[in-house]
Amino acid sequence: MNLYKYVSESINEKLGFAANLETPRNREFGDFSTNAAMVGAKLAHKNPRELANEILPKIQELDFVESANIAGPGFINIKIRDDFILKNASAPQPQKADKPLVIDMDYGAYNVAKSLHIGHLRTSIVGDTLNRIFRFMGHKTISYNHMGDWGRSMGMVIAWIKRIHPDWPFFQDNFDPYMDLSKYTFDPDELNTFYPQASALAKSDESFMDTVHTITAELQRGHAGYNALYNIFMPISLESMHNTIKKLNILPFDNDLGEKNAALYEEPVEKLLRDKNLLQKDDGAEIVVVKKDTDTAPMPPVMFHNSRGATTYDATDIMAIYYRKLTDNPNKIIYLTDSRQSLHFQQLFRIAELTGLFDVKNLEHIGYGTINGADGKPFKTRSGNAADLDDIIQIATDAVRTRVSENNKDLDNNTIDTIAIAALKFNDLMHDLRSDYIFDPAAVTSFEGRTGPYVLYTAVRLNSVLNRATTEPKPNNTKINTDERNLLLAILDFDRTIQSAYENRATDLIANYAYNLCQLINAFYHTCPILRDDIDLQTQQNRLHIVKIARDTLVTATDLMGLKIPNKM
Ligand code: ARG
Repeated sequence: MNLYKYVSESINEKLGFAANLETPRNREFGDFSTNAAMVGAKLAHKNPRELANEILPKIQELDFVESANIAGPGFINIKIRDDFILKNASAPQPQKADKPLVIDMDYGAYNVAKSLHIGHLRTSIVGDTLNRIFRFMGHKTISYNHMGDWGRSMGMVIAWIKRIHPDWPFFQDNFDPYMDLSKYTFDPDELNTFYPQASALAKSDESFMDTVHTITAELQRGHAGYNALYNIFMPISLESMHNTIKKLNILPFDNDLGEKNAALYEEPVEKLLRDKNLLQKDDGAEIVVVKKDTDTAPMPPVMFHNSRGATTYDATDIMAIYYRKLTDNPNKIIYLTDSRQSLHFQQLFRIAELTGLFDVKNLEHIGYGTINGADGKPFKTRSGNAADLDDIIQIATDAVRTRVSENNKDLDNNTIDTIAIAALKFNDLMHDLRSDYIFDPAAVTSFEGRTGPYVLYTAVRLNSVLNRATTEPKPNNTKINTDERNLLLAILDFDRTIQSAYENRATDLIANYAYNLCQLINAFYHTCPILRDDIDLQTQQNRLHIVKIARDTLVTATDLMGLKIPNKM
């Protein structure tokens, strides 16, 4: 039950107009507070305090009201009945959307032959959680790992391989695609070094850069040797991406279709642009002007073909929109990337609108902030390199291991991995995704405070109570104390939280909800003994019921964050 919504709508219905409902931080005077008297006074030209006196009895009649009283200039504070709380608090259920949407979600979006790095952490973790939230809300999502698997970076990789293995058959004129190629393979880690090396060389060596351009163009035109080579390293790279995201407990992508797949739709997209007169020649290149007269910020044109005739990153993104419209025909496409790409997406969305492919309001770019080190600069490994995702996972795992041994706990490697991943993910999810944050491995792996391990620990504790219980959880009308009450009220706030997380695309709401819930659980646990001998059966069953729905609520939240709960901690 969404208690807030229920209370708010009941009041509005009773009074016949819409008022605002607040949840005061301090529950001493009430669980909710409404400004109905102020709103009503304005409508009826009356004094708010007077009107509050008239309204009060009507509010007191509502089935959930224990007591109501007037405060200040005419606020009405409402306390909810204990039995109402106990009866209605339950484990959250996946919802049915009134209008289920089909949503294409573009996140992850890794690059072939480049390892996943820290810049991919948030798109992976937040993207996965948003995906799970949308599904929970009853929508259909189709996730795309829109890979950087085409274009110049592939030319770079092939040019590098050609440089180190000039004698390989792929580079010979008489290349036979049917020959046995099984001995030509790569170690994934080695493969990930090719692009950075090639790109560094290309900066200083013009002739190497020329080779890259030629190879890129030939690859895209179907050169047999280059394509055979591509077909060898691409799956190796894909597998290593999958390994990393599996470690992170990210749902598998529905599609690993990226730039290469999009590029298959070059012809129809080009025709669409030409038919609408949107392509302009510019110094040998072809561009689309997206600037509007009303723009105050710079809005450069989008290059569709560069002067060598090659298609650009921007162009493949238009083609990807075309492809998705053709196949999924989604209501919305949502992209999740570093906020530094926001201009790219503004331009892209304008083209989508100009071509009539999509209404801009159904295209969304969520731009996230940077993960920094203690120095406030983008996080680097100890050796000073931009950190790979695997390095980050390792750093978090080491930090958990240290903490576990300091606390003389005996946990197996699997559990340590689970805790480390939860630490990393929870920390990412709890921050406002649009802002930067500082990544401090020691802090995020702490077992206390606003951390993933604290959340897991609380869940483990609840599971252990339920496992040890010898009687059934059963709600009954025993009186509940403040800690039980606060916990149940938080459980009744889950539906509102997820609704808001969904509407605002704000994963931090779920993470912080989970943390607050854990604090209330631990407060409850402290004052409400459950399995102790001196606790009567009725109280015990009632408390077990609270433990059970608290556990189920917490598990729903951790599932949405893609956190696994260990058996022991
Ligand atoms: N591969 C790009 C990168 O790593 C992100 C692609 C995002 N998605 C898109 N449709 N452009 O930065």
